[in-house]
Amino acid sequence: MNRISRMLAAPVTLLALLAFSAQAATDDDIAKRLEPVGQVCVQGQVCTGTDVGVAAGGASARSPDEVIAQHCTACHSAGLLSAPKIGDAADWGKRAQEQGGLDGLLAKAITGINAMPPKGTCGDCSDDELKGAIEKMSGLK
Ligand code: HEC
Repeated sequence: MNRISRMLAAPVTLLALLAFSAQAATDDDIAKRLEPVGQVCVQGQVCTGTDVGVAAGGASARSPDEVIAQHCTACHSAGLLSAPKIGDAADWGKRAQEQGGLDGLLAKAITGINAMPPKGTCGDCSDDELKGAIEKMSGLK
């Protein structure tokens, strides 16, 4: 009798464990499904999965390539509306001289200049993100 019950106990324990982990997985799934669609991003915390980004945090700052691809390339790759072309060191260099260097260019990029829209349409770009994009497009440092 003892032997039989021991023989039975092992599979029963195994079954119980399986059932328990199956239940856990289900609870996880349910929790995932119940997650809010939108999450509140607090400044200083890293917001994942949102495009809002927390520029101040730095951790979620977009790379120059990302900013350029999303916002600047539309005009600056082809030189649309006589925008300085990406990699056109002469044009960028002349502009940098007129505006007093990279920071001067950054200031113009923030406010906009003629056909160049404020922040180059990247309204939620931080100054650093814009500066990175300008450095990359112009080759200036
Ligand atoms: C809608 C088109 C457009 C977009 C998008 C755009 N730019 Fe421009 N940008 C221009 C034009 C046009 C000029 C030239 C303005 C002039 O000198 O008359 C310019 C000039 C600039 C200059 C030089 C300013 C100066 O003082 O000479 C910088 C810096 C600049 N853009 C940065 C950016 C960055 C960074 C982005 C992306 C975040 C961007 N631009 C997106 C059109 C655009």
